[in-house]
Amino acid sequence: MGSIGETQDPPPFQPPPFEPPLAVLKTQAATIQAAVAEYELAKTPDDKARAVINIAVASQMLSTITTSPGAVVQRFAFQPVSNAAVRVAIGMGLFNQLSPSKPATTKELAAKCNSDAEFVQRIARAVASLGMLQEVSEETYAHTPISMILSDDTAQASLAQMLDNVGVTMMNLNSYYREHGYKSPADVKNTPTVYARGLKDVGYFEWLTQSPELYTVFNKAMAFHSLTGVNGIATAYPWDKLQPGPDGVTVVDVGGGKGHALKEIIRHHPSISGHAVLEDLENVLADGTLVSSESVKTVPYDFLGQEQPVKGAAAYMFRHCFCDWPDEECLKILDNHIPAMQGFESRLLLSDLVLPDEGADASKTLRDINMMQCSGKERSEKQWHALLDKAGFRIVHIYCKDDAYNSLVEAVLKD
Ligand SMILES: C[S@@+](CC[C@H](N)C(=O)[O-])C[C@H]1O[C@@H](n2cnc3c(N)ncnc32)[C@H](O)[C@@H]1O
Repeated sequence: MGSIGETQDPPPFQPPPFEPPLAVLKTQAATIQAAVAEYELAKTPDDKARAVINIAVASQMLSTITTSPGAVVQRFAFQPVSNAAVRVAIGMGLFNQLSPSKPATTKELAAKCNSDAEFVQRIARAVASLGMLQEVSEETYAHTPISMILSDDTAQASLAQMLDNVGVTMMNLNSYYREHGYKSPADVKNTPTVYARGLKDVGYFEWLTQSPELYTVFNKAMAFHSLTGVNGIATAYPWDKLQPGPDGVTVVDVGGGKGHALKEIIRHHPSISGHAVLEDLENVLADGTLVSSESVKTVPYDFLGQEQPVKGAAAYMFRHCFCDWPDEECLKILDNHIPAMQGFESRLLLSDLVLPDEGADASKTLRDINMMQCSGKERSEKQWHALLDKAGFRIVHIYCKDDAYNSLVEAVLKD
């Protein structure tokens, strides 16, 4: 018993009982049912896809409501461990060694992955618990649609890029801000990425250029978007309304990487073939692209340091490029394009995320945090208007505004 003057330890924190209100559960369950009914009645693939998204969003919300705060904290705490388990599964070839048509035992997989059954079981069991493999019986696993995608080379590169490369940066992000101040980084030579590697005064793409094996993974990871995202911009924008400019060029894909976006656009709009130009840094184009030289001309080009060399094209497209840079560099890029566009009816096509001014979901907010790695940012509609206005452009239309991967801002030079 404590006597007068003795300090007492505060009682240990006791979370209140976790009892989500029944009315909220019923409302959310009804929302899910309504989304399922919408799916049942959907007539077109687009309607079906939208209904599936609505089911997923409503189910996710129900899961959030029914997960105790303690469990949420635990889930966050274990996020790096989940990531590591998936990364190891990819690294040891687990997804590739599993037959698409029949399950395999851990012993069979161990023989193929140069591992042992116990290790395979530890990794496969964890990955299955995350929904990426199916545990069909004790120590026996089969593919799921997710592990099928993860057997693809570019999907694996996409995860390797995020978990190996970006992961190191993200682990050090708070230290970076503690040292540099908690504000948006504008210094493109001292990004969180180079800070995390103990380097100084090296631009993000300079750093990638100095690490060719990382740049290869990066380029492959970008190509993964052709599986997930390019299809939408290829179909949503009226490409066929564009007529080749005086030099016969319809589209220049600036900073287009290996050309996966152009390839998809040409697949949908064959008339663009022979009238397209792919531009990127010399080292990116040097070891080959995904497009044939008959359909696409490749031009090494530095959009920050040089004026656009292809004049009067119908459209200059930048896909996922502006998000890599702070406003000052974006203004430089835009300025470098004005001489090529002036006097022609050229269009600027920016395929980047358009964050809603309010109520952005995690698929969008986290992409913005992700861009901190290179001192870049994702922009809201208001920010796009402000940036383009400052550079002398006006937005004509925003296609697929709500679609994180397929938004396309169309702009022209102001009169
Ligand atoms: C995020 S990736 C996007 C690639 C591609 N547009 C896509 O949609 O996947 C950014 C691209 O910008 C290129 N890049 C970076 N700095 C550049 C510069 N100064 N001039 C031209 N391209 C550059 C990179 O090599 C890379 O291919």
